Amino acid sequence: MTMVRTSATAFAPASVGNVAVGFDILGHTVAALGDRVRVSRRTEPGVAIRAITGVVKDLPLAAEKNTAGMAALALQRELGLPFGFELEIEKGIPLGSGLGGSAASAVAAVVAAAALVDRPLDRTRLLKFAMQGEAVASGSVHVDNIAPSLFGGLVLTVGIDNPHVKQIPVPESVRCVLVHPHMVLATREARAILRRTVELSDVIWQQANLAGFLAGCYTSDLGLIRESLLDVVIEPQRQVLIPGFVEVKQAALAAGALGGSISGAGPTVFAWAESDDAENVRAEMVAAFRNHGLESDSWVSAIDRDGARVVDG
Ligand code: HSE
Repeated sequence: MTMVRTSATAFAPASVGNVAVGFDILGHTVAALGDRVRVSRRTEPGVAIRAITGVVKDLPLAAEKNTAGMAALALQRELGLPFGFELEIEKGIPLGSGLGGSAASAVAAVVAAAALVDRPLDRTRLLKFAMQGEAVASGSVHVDNIAPSLFGGLVLTVGIDNPHVKQIPVPESVRCVLVHPHMVLATREARAILRRTVELSDVIWQQANLAGFLAGCYTSDLGLIRESLLDVVIEPQRQVLIPGFVEVKQAALAAGALGGSISGAGPTVFAWAESDDAENVRAEMVAAFRNHGLESDSWVSAIDRDGARVVDG
């Protein structure tokens, strides 16, 4: 007889939303950082958050207002479980950084909670619970952080009600460079400034870029990736929110990056580069932010396929 666990800890990686060409539908993981959530069973239904530690502590403790709490609550309610959960959240991802912190907490919570349930739950099911958590933080339903954090790698999601999740291969030599300037940008704010309509010519250009980028990834065509890793719709509207963005991106391209843009809703800026160029790209981007009075944290990360997982056995 299999013993059902009474507690589990899960890790969920950070992620780069949009990846320039796939607003709200494309994202990839960043293995270098992530959130951990420990979930324990409790007798009463519902969810209680016991502790929030790590790089962010000032988050709501009420389950319905917390991304991890709401995601676990959605799982508990929709499965009709006769028991509830207690959560301890350890934040590794800075708040308002554009690195998918709210998504990672929601994903880690559902992965840990699922380990305490006596029936198998596939990841598409978990995705839907985590989406309810993410909606608490950003005020909208988007999957470009949740899906990669849960599944791992570069991930395309088609559909919201019945999401199809596709992991896209990334050429071996590609690294992601991330530079997080020390400022906070709320996703809600960065979404609120977006115009509701898009010029037809920009739609065509962006479609070509998304198609070219995906084809480039599938065929390891770095020239095609370089040509198409360009956001002509969202980045021009949001770049004013990030001091020095234009110079930082220019510095990345001048140092040999394949392309880059705002990570998620910002202010982190990401670039894709070949492994031999990545450290130089990182140094030049950090220097460009410094020229605008912003210190930053930075990482060079492979885009591996490891998504969220239980880490305590
Ligand atoms: N796709 C979302 C946005 C991600 O750019 O608004 C937010 O993390």
